[in-house]
Amino acid sequence: MKKKEKNYDKKTEKEIEKLLKKLTLDEKVSMLHGATLFRSGAVERLGIPGVVTSDGPMGVRAEFMDDRWIPSGNQDDMVSYLPSNSAVASSWNPDLAYAMGHVLGEEARGRGKDVILAPGINIKRDPRCGRNFEYMSEDPKLTAAMAVPFIKGVQENDVAACVKHFAANVQETDRLMVDEEIDDRTLYEIYLPAFKAAVQEGNAYSIMGAYNKINGTHCCENKRLLDLVLRMEWGFNGAVISDWGGVHKTKEAAQCSIDMEMSIFPDFDEYKLANPLKELIAKGEVSEDMVDAKVRNILRMMFRLKMIGSKKDTRKAGAYNTLAHREAILHTARESMVLLKNENHLLPLDAGKIKKLVVIGANAAKVHSDGGGSAEIKALYEICPLAGLKMYLGGNTQVQYVKGYHVPEAPKTYEQNWQASSLDDLKNTDVGQAVRVDDASENERHRKGEEERLARIKQEQDEIHEKNKDLFAQAIKAAKEADAVIFVGGLNHNIDSEGFDRTDMKLPYEQDILIEELLEVRKDMVVTFVGGSPVEMPWRNKARAILWSYYAGMETGNALAEIIFGEVNPSAKLAETFPARYEDCATAKNGQFGKWGNIRLEEGLYYGYRHFDRQHIAPAFCFGHGLSYTDFEYSALTLKMEKDRSVKLTFTVKNTGKRAGAEIAQVYVAPIASKVDRPDKELKAFAKVFLAPGRSKKITLTMKQEDFAYFDVQLHDFITDAGDYEILVGASCEDIRLRGLATLV
Ligand code: BGC
Repeated sequence: MKKKEKNYDKKTEKEIEKLLKKLTLDEKVSMLHGATLFRSGAVERLGIPGVVTSDGPMGVRAEFMDDRWIPSGNQDDMVSYLPSNSAVASSWNPDLAYAMGHVLGEEARGRGKDVILAPGINIKRDPRCGRNFEYMSEDPKLTAAMAVPFIKGVQENDVAACVKHFAANVQETDRLMVDEEIDDRTLYEIYLPAFKAAVQEGNAYSIMGAYNKINGTHCCENKRLLDLVLRMEWGFNGAVISDWGGVHKTKEAAQCSIDMEMSIFPDFDEYKLANPLKELIAKGEVSEDMVDAKVRNILRMMFRLKMIGSKKDTRKAGAYNTLAHREAILHTARESMVLLKNENHLLPLDAGKIKKLVVIGANAAKVHSDGGGSAEIKALYEICPLAGLKMYLGGNTQVQYVKGYHVPEAPKTYEQNWQASSLDDLKNTDVGQAVRVDDASENERHRKGEEERLARIKQEQDEIHEKNKDLFAQAIKAAKEADAVIFVGGLNHNIDSEGFDRTDMKLPYEQDILIEELLEVRKDMVVTFVGGSPVEMPWRNKARAILWSYYAGMETGNALAEIIFGEVNPSAKLAETFPARYEDCATAKNGQFGKWGNIRLEEGLYYGYRHFDRQHIAPAFCFGHGLSYTDFEYSALTLKMEKDRSVKLTFTVKNTGKRAGAEIAQVYVAPIASKVDRPDKELKAFAKVFLAPGRSKKITLTMKQEDFAYFDVQLHDFITDAGDYEILVGASCEDIRLRGLATLV
């Protein structure tokens, strides 16, 4: 594969070499690791500052102490709370991904950061992965299409996006040590493409090496992944930063393309890329050239960020908590909520006709920004659904809130993501510092924590059941007496979280039972959810309207109310399959998810909609599904084969209803008589069109030869076979409206 020589600016390279010559070995090594928990070492003598990093994907995290894993407790680090990546991706609107990247980058710079540890773009392999809410989609094409503008938006603020977690960080169970067996074709077709696009199209300045192992080697020490794929094949010349505590072996890390080691421990000189590295150099076991290569990558990123060099004075200042940010976040929230079902046009509700509204469910009155692990933030504010509904309706409607079901107080063990659990001693003693132990003991502690968590969940069942008796009765009584009933349930960050996976795909706290009972008395109940990952909805045939919101940021409540009452027409579609039952998933069938030790990605390419297609299993709601208050008609598909083996495609989408709305038209490619086994169809292009009632628009999309390719393991390259490919244009992966045939020669 050809090495891509891009992004080398000769002048900068000369400056880098000049600086390198001036740096002593000690100074160079100090730049390769944390000097505080979130900042690398500076070389003041030469005007080289430390690189200041911060989480995360939903906003800039609160300030932490330099050497203690506890927030500083300031009042000046509240920020805009952005929709999670899963929400952003559901908009299928790259302009909004760009806008959210811009907000995040500008806020990060405003808070004085150089690198923002986002976006998370791992592929959602299994709906139970605890961090799925932070990721975009199950589909590589959609993930890439949203990640690229997001990264551009971040970086135009002179802040680096640190795209994470490279690569295939597909589960939280045993996340520090799990070894994933992945075949090359699956890696190249599913788990790598979004990262490749992030590097080559998004021009990401930094990448975060993941915790997990791939085929026996930790990602942060993985020569194949970092040297061969990332540097050689993709031509990446930015900085690779380890996930916090992701480096385990000095020599291996020294000799592969990981540039900066970050961790949770305050013994900064003992990091692998600190004193232990110097010792190996002194012994002649590692060459100083390896250090130089890393420093070059870090300096290059610093020049790009205008942290050093002649452009330093022109570096952008950023800003946080601006009105413009809030508006962009509201806009994105509106386009991120997916209307899953709307029988007989139950939605939108007519606000003018409702004298008494009952809102049921703990998530109506819950804020989520302060949880989830490293994605948690201190939000400037967060409008919960109940507040949004009340603010929308005003004083003439009586709004009664009933909780409906019991949510146990999150015990300490629940709050603990892996980071915090490594800091137990700090928490208990107020010392504030992580205690370094060997990998085996760390893992043992982690495993014990997980056992305790599961035992606790079991114990809570009784408490929930007991308390729910009264709560259910109250909810049912209230529902009977109201003009309209809105249920707001779902998940929270005790469930969608870093550090552990979900135990199942069910709604917690007996919500299914409550919903069933409520639907018995109120067939017209509007069922809405806030959550970060799919849930089973066994009662879905009885509900007339179901609206799904991911964690949609500080304006969640406003956007939800606007959609429910029809001020906003929903226009989002699922970026992941919602299976009817967890057992239907490929990973549930092969048992290769959520295990300790090692997992084999046996299903290969066949997970998500690729699996449901192949096995002819109907999911509850398929990939790409999402309704609008208006209807769209598709027509006039034309295909033109170009000389360069690209295919130009045109078709028309018409808004045939009475409201303005937006449709996300999706293009899937289905190879006919392929030489190798391939998924029945794969998403290769999409367009979101905004249409006034009665208006239509001709959409033109070009699919490149790569869009027809598969990865040939023998050749170690993508190839596109000549032959016939069916082109499917549709409103979801199941709702195909137009078909055409492309013949590649
Ligand atoms: C997480 C990363 C995060 C880092 C710093 C790790 O535990 O996996 O996503 O950016 O900590 O907080």
